[in-house]
Amino acid sequence: INLSELLNLDEIEDAATKVMSKKAWAYYYSASDDKISKLLNTQAYRSILLRPRIFVDCRACDLDMTILGHKVGLPLFVSPTAMARLGHSTGETGIAQGCRPFNALQIIANNSSVSPEDVVSGAAPTQVFGWQLYVQLNRKSSEDMLARVNRLDQIKFIVLTLDAPVSGKREDDERVNIQATSSGSISAQLFAGTDPSLTWSDTLKWLSRHTQKPVILKGIQTHEDALLATQYAPFIKAIVLSNHGGRSIDTAPPAVHTLLEIHKYCPSVFDQVEVWVDGGIRRGTDVIKALCLGAKCVGIGRPALWGLAAGGAEGVERTLQILSDEMKTCMRLLGARTVGELGPHHVRISICPGD
Ligand code: FNR
Repeated sequence: INLSELLNLDEIEDAATKVMSKKAWAYYYSASDDKISKLLNTQAYRSILLRPRIFVDCRACDLDMTILGHKVGLPLFVSPTAMARLGHSTGETGIAQGCRPFNALQIIANNSSVSPEDVVSGAAPTQVFGWQLYVQLNRKSSEDMLARVNRLDQIKFIVLTLDAPVSGKREDDERVNIQATSSGSISAQLFAGTDPSLTWSDTLKWLSRHTQKPVILKGIQTHEDALLATQYAPFIKAIVLSNHGGRSIDTAPPAVHTLLEIHKYCPSVFDQVEVWVDGGIRRGTDVIKALCLGAKCVGIGRPALWGLAAGGAEGVERTLQILSDEMKTCMRLLGARTVGELGPHHVRISICPGD
């Protein structure tokens, strides 16, 4: 694959689809039930309009920023996704290498196919990581993993995923595995050990005994839960508005709708925790819109996996390069020179639900 001929993230997905095994493709592509949330994730951004200002000197354009105080080169992060080696032999290490030129944040999944020690050991000293936790029925195994992760300085926080106490019904994944074997879908196998009994104070109390690192809650889908999360600040430092890429409960809202809900009902959340979003980001304009609406940074799940499958570390780098270039073009045409200048005045949201 000639990566330089791939001009946008959809073309990278198409190229990856052609070279991947059916099983790997199905695991990455799949979403729950009728994939309504997956579709809405991308459509939600398309229904928001930008409000470009003119006569702004836009020679300089800077994407540098900080995430929870850590310097990064892009307002983007790679969301945690299990099993990167299904798509490419370098797995999560390939993703880390692709992030390197941008000093982009990568969140390593609990179910990563490369150990966190190995992912971090090959990274540049300035690269920052998070580690995502699914609390296991076997608590001791989660405690042991946390002890290992606690020793890795470049892992700056723990991302606790809460939108998937059980797996959603992902039929593409089920179908290829019924045809191939009888061992069940990859999702079903991965979720077999996770604990569906978690609750706010018990689980967070337990977690606070096993890590000193800041904690981020991933999978917030309502303003009520965003507000509840702030009761646990500053132990909780950030929340990720996410519907798991449409892979958990179908017809859950896209993150951008939850973002708008928070603006409407409890805007104080933005002062107490950083609000991150993911799901459906396919263009630089999508990232910029989320930032305008108060997201501190924006995650990509599948786009990083498609990049990895299409070209290993270079494919991930190409994915980030395209998004970075598109973001800069968008900011220049919008009349904003730094991420900090972006605000709600740059978007028209009146046509969006929740407004
Ligand atoms: C995921 N996601 C996910 N999230 C998580 O917290 N732990 C995990 O192990 C996984 N695994 C996973 C595997 C695959 C193949 C996908 C596609 C997704 C969800 C992920 O972090 C993120 O929320 C979504 O992928 C964002 O949507 P987009 O960018 O894929 O549209």
